[in-house]
Amino acid sequence: MAWSPRSWEAFPVKQMPTYQDAEQVKSAVERLSAQPPLIFAEEVRALKADLGRVARGEAFLLQGGDCAEAFAEFSADMIRDNFKLMMQMAVTLTFAGQKPVVKVGRLAGQFAKPRSSDLEKQGDVELPSYRGDIINDSAFTPDARIPDPERMLRAYYQAASTLNLIRAFAQGGMADLTNVHKWNLEFVRNSPQGERFEQLASDIDKAMSFMAACGLTPDSVPALQTVDYYTSHEALLLDYETALTRVDSLTNIYYDLSAHMLWIGDRTRQPDHAHVEFLRGVGNPLGVKCGPSMDTDDLKKLLDTLNPEREAGRITLIVRMGADKVQEHMPALVRAVKGLDHPVVWSCDPMHGNTIKAETGYKTRPFDQVLREVEGFFAVHQAEGTIPGGVHLEMTGKNVTECMGGARAVSAEDLSSRYHTHCDPRLNAEQSLEMAFMVSDLLRKYLGDRPIAQAA
Ligand code: PEP
Ligand code: CO
Repeated sequence: MAWSPRSWEAFPVKQMPTYQDAEQVKSAVERLSAQPPLIFAEEVRALKADLGRVARGEAFLLQGGDCAEAFAEFSADMIRDNFKLMMQMAVTLTFAGQKPVVKVGRLAGQFAKPRSSDLEKQGDVELPSYRGDIINDSAFTPDARIPDPERMLRAYYQAASTLNLIRAFAQGGMADLTNVHKWNLEFVRNSPQGERFEQLASDIDKAMSFMAACGLTPDSVPALQTVDYYTSHEALLLDYETALTRVDSLTNIYYDLSAHMLWIGDRTRQPDHAHVEFLRGVGNPLGVKCGPSMDTDDLKKLLDTLNPEREAGRITLIVRMGADKVQEHMPALVRAVKGLDHPVVWSCDPMHGNTIKAETGYKTRPFDQVLREVEGFFAVHQAEGTIPGGVHLEMTGKNVTECMGGARAVSAEDLSSRYHTHCDPRLNAEQSLEMAFMVSDLLRKYLGDRPIAQAA
């Protein structure tokens, strides 16, 4: 069947809003289609080449950011702190793996959320669920929950403005390796992770001084001064994605230029449904979330549909089974993919299979379960002789209390003190850095080397 940016409309679709007025949707999509793309196709191809290296074990993927971006949670400080945290984690992992780390943010477009229920009940009142700021509002009132297509434009402008600052940070000096100490966030500095990071930063300083003595400085070697920082989000709201899908004039290939990488959620990955139909036709690298219900038949169909040419870097399988299920479900998938000879990146999302409700009513994720899933993921790859390619995290540079545990032991009672997420609980900066050190140790172990510098 021929593909076009709107061929998905003929397929069954899940998780999309039912707008009240088709004319309003048409008008919003028309205006969005007239906007410039957020990114350039050549950058998308660069990311695909980078992910091809990850698939071959020559690099490691770090993907992370908010569960859901929000119109109300939008500031320069937030973007800066998320950027610094990503840089800290990436440099930690680079040091451990001695390989480049491909940095992909969940940002500048991560607005639409799939929900397990169409309705939300509070007391006796039942309203349509909140589906992310690009669709409706989280306030629990009938008006707020009406899907409004104009929100797509607001999301686009917020994404453009976020990306503008990210590009400035990535290219304008913030990523300079001589600034490595400045990435340590104020409230993290005195924690065990902050101290461990200071040590690592001092080691990097020494390496930089040595290189400078040899004539290699950030001025003479731009790679020490700038980074490639890519964007990604779940391609859920297909009206938005279609409006930003354009033909690349250099190659005549369609790309979804709303982000470098798009992923298909665990709830919308049916091989004969609209989301798969849309994504099969765009040239971007694609993530596919694999939850416990993913079986080898569906996985084979998805790989053949989404990557018939078996291009390395095209597909990242983002496994999110839950700590108790990863060792049970993942080996069959790994063996199936090996048997099919499809080049994929295996990435571990240890967040979405480990969500629980604390006795205080808050949705949370116990840090030790999150970590246990990552360990299970590495163990399966070790046993199968395949490559643990990356991690996919929900995290924030803010000092929130949303996930329980970690070195500073956030308790169930602590959750209420700084619980700010608009959707799922995120690792805070300290927990994220702790995770980066733990993944580093697993990576070292996998590579058959000693753990990286322990804190003194
Ligand atoms: C997400 O990544 O925020 C998400 C909803 O994931 P999943 O589709 O794996 O549940
Ligand atoms: Co989430």
